[in-house]
Amino acid sequence: MLIRLFYVSTALGPQTTTVTGSILKVAHAWNAQHGITGVLCQGQGVFLQVLEGERDAVTGLFERIAADRRHKNVEMVHRETITQRRYEKWAMAHVQLSDLDPMTNIEWPEFDPYSVTGLLVMARIDELIAVGTVINAPDA
Ligand SMILES: Cc1cc2nc3c(=O)[nH]c(=O)nc-3n(C[C@H](O)[C@H](O)[C@H](O)COP(=O)(O)O)c2cc1C
Repeated sequence: MLIRLFYVSTALGPQTTTVTGSILKVAHAWNAQHGITGVLCQGQGVFLQVLEGERDAVTGLFERIAADRRHKNVEMVHRETITQRRYEKWAMAHVQLSDLDPMTNIEWPEFDPYSVTGLLVMARIDELIAVGTVINAPDA
């Protein structure tokens, strides 16, 4: 059974490219081997991540990620059974939520991922992917 899981968390420490790069490197390798796809959005002190795949693989990975000391307040905001993946192209796409991102600051100035529903956050991610802010860097 395929599921999609979605969480929000607060970064512990600065979200440098070194930190993100090492997360993505591990994620790309492990996820590709275990049929996990998804998106990691990062910036402004938060992580938003969508994980898709077989239920046991996703649940196990989420538990591991939730215990990771690079973030805290890991809150699952959405979980659903799916018949089709939304992010099938990506073992883990990366979306940078830049402080300077005009979409984030002008069109959605009060964006607070903890206070909106999971589906709204996912819609927001799809907007970011649509405008081309997604970076897929398997060797990051
Ligand atoms: C925000 C965030 C997202 C992560 N996403 C993934 C991921 O998609 N896949 C993955 O294998 N590890 C991911 N990790 C890394 C895991 O938390 C963990 O470090 C890694 O799976 C290695 O596990 P281990 O330290 O128990 O060996 C992520 C970590 C953080 C902080």
